[in-house]
Amino acid sequence: MYFGVDYYPEHWEEGRWEDDLRTMKEMHFNIVRVGEFAWSRFEPEEGKYDFAWLDRFLSLCASHEIEVMLGVPARNVPAWLVAKDPTIAIQAAEGHRESFGSRYTTCLNNPTLRRYALLLAEKLAATYTRHPVVSSWQLDNEYGDASPCHCDNCRARFIEWLEKRYASPDAVNKAWGLVFWGLEIQAWDQVWLPKKINRFPHNPGLLLDFRRFTSWTTEEFVAAQAAALRRISSGKPVTTNMQSMTRYHTDHYRMVEPLDVVSMNFYPPESYTTADLDIVRGTKGRNFWVVEQKAGPPGFAHPGFLTPKPGETRLFTYASIAHGADAILYFRFRPCSYGQEQYHMGIMNYDGSRNRLFEEIKRTGEEMHKISKAIAGTTVRNQVAFLHSYENRWALDQYHIHPELRYRDFFLAYYREFERRHIGVDVVNPRADLSAYRLVVVPLLCLMDDAVTRGIAAYVQNGGHLLYTARSGVKDRNNNVVPSIIPSRLGAVLGIGIEEAFALKPGQTNRIVTPAGGEYQVSTWIDLIRPEGAEVLARYADDWYRGRPAVTRNEYGAGMANYIGTIPEGRYLEVELSPILSRAGVSPVLECPGPLWVLRRTGPGGDVIFVLNPTDTALTVPLENKFLDLLDGSEISGGLVLGPYDLRVFMA
Ligand code: GLA
Ligand code: ZN
Repeated sequence: MYFGVDYYPEHWEEGRWEDDLRTMKEMHFNIVRVGEFAWSRFEPEEGKYDFAWLDRFLSLCASHEIEVMLGVPARNVPAWLVAKDPTIAIQAAEGHRESFGSRYTTCLNNPTLRRYALLLAEKLAATYTRHPVVSSWQLDNEYGDASPCHCDNCRARFIEWLEKRYASPDAVNKAWGLVFWGLEIQAWDQVWLPKKINRFPHNPGLLLDFRRFTSWTTEEFVAAQAAALRRISSGKPVTTNMQSMTRYHTDHYRMVEPLDVVSMNFYPPESYTTADLDIVRGTKGRNFWVVEQKAGPPGFAHPGFLTPKPGETRLFTYASIAHGADAILYFRFRPCSYGQEQYHMGIMNYDGSRNRLFEEIKRTGEEMHKISKAIAGTTVRNQVAFLHSYENRWALDQYHIHPELRYRDFFLAYYREFERRHIGVDVVNPRADLSAYRLVVVPLLCLMDDAVTRGIAAYVQNGGHLLYTARSGVKDRNNNVVPSIIPSRLGAVLGIGIEEAFALKPGQTNRIVTPAGGEYQVSTWIDLIRPEGAEVLARYADDWYRGRPAVTRNEYGAGMANYIGTIPEGRYLEVELSPILSRAGVSPVLECPGPLWVLRRTGPGGDVIFVLNPTDTALTVPLENKFLDLLDGSEISGGLVLGPYDLRVFMA
């Protein structure tokens, strides 16, 4: 288990390094991440590399027995490289070139950038391949978080990309439907990029393929950079850090393929949620590293609002671990009083003095020692899968369904209902093998291709349970509407057809009622369902379509497929999810009431259970069985009281 911090030796006088490392050691840190923004120091002049300062820092790390995750910069290039080739800058949709002077402003399809970034990767690999404290590599930082580029290099590569995927320009015409508004092309050099148009949007097929291409640019470069390192230095894991659901620029399922380990940032509670931990774990279906765990409140141009309350930093650290993190590195050690993040707090104060976070993280570090043996080798395995795809989010972006329907909110509404019930969730690629899951949830998976619909159908046929929401499957892989509204293959699985489907005005509502007398408000979207074998579970209560089916379930093959054709209020799932779960045989990690997070890691030595109180009030937790508390070695029986943001870790 790694426990450490992000540190920027280049921000501080060398004389401070030793002190800082000594403090880190005292906090039980065993790893430090450095260098991801330091290209201007690694290569201050073209071809003149300077690693002497890094060597001195690494020697100090060695003497304190702290390992190093070394950053391999790529997109934050030194000023001399921009001067050498100004076309290295991203060309934004608006037409201008991004200015030098911030971060993530360069184009990965620029040959100059590629050449120098890969040379730097090779140079770092050659210099540190045998260095004993350098134990892993982080490729750049937050790959993909940039404006999409519309430069000539990108256009040329986009055309190549299209040529590989479509046999002819005419195949593109057909796939994107370019006859609409008379946009057909006759030759590859007529392909255009979706630069900004003031009125009326670009073609949906082009927009989706351009996002695929932009993502591919990152995927391909990550693979090239990883290969450049490995050619010279093998055996040290290569990773790069992913962001939250609020950033879906890149198809992470594909981007992680050349990586040894996936890693992420985690800045809860607002821009990041616990779902992000499951999403990142799901990209490889394996444990992951958190390389930026929030310490102090983030703040860029102004001080951040979300200062962690006492206990919250420890709580979120355990949330990461409970969801499968095998490394925690806090961001950052000490705030920097200059630069663009001068209000971003850290573990220490600006002057290096200690504060309450220091004490809290130190205590957490002591605890990590106690639990690290028990969690070594454990993994997270859940009974429920949520299907999540990046392509789907891209498709929803430009051609959204409703101004009030935000994908992330929709997804989280379902996700939180499982979390509230203490049921762990895997978030998986819709192409994944689903057979191990008792229940598969399809939240607003608008875009599906034939392989995905076939996979879902086979899953239910073979005994799986499906929870399928409105507007899933209404688009094909080209971002075009499937003519039958519900793809016919799933129509049979769900046992329904859709007679009419329409949006409600913002603020407009209806109600649905169940035979048992349940009554719930619905809004945003209405499917009028025609049962074709399915049983009706709820009907609309008002307006001209009163009495028409809104929710159904269907026995199909050996399984069961549930369809929710509208957007019910939160209370609906609180009540109506229960029969679906019991029918599917899905059980919570622990039967104990309360707004807790309860999670499990499973291993050969038994299960490790995490019970976390994410609220600011104390909670009483009744427990039926006896457990061994891994933090203090005591036996827990009959229940326990968890203070605000407090938690327990036990062996089951
Ligand atoms: C990101 C970046 C860091 C830093 C933090 C601030 O996640 O990776 O470099 O900017 O945000 O919160
Ligand atoms: Zn470009």
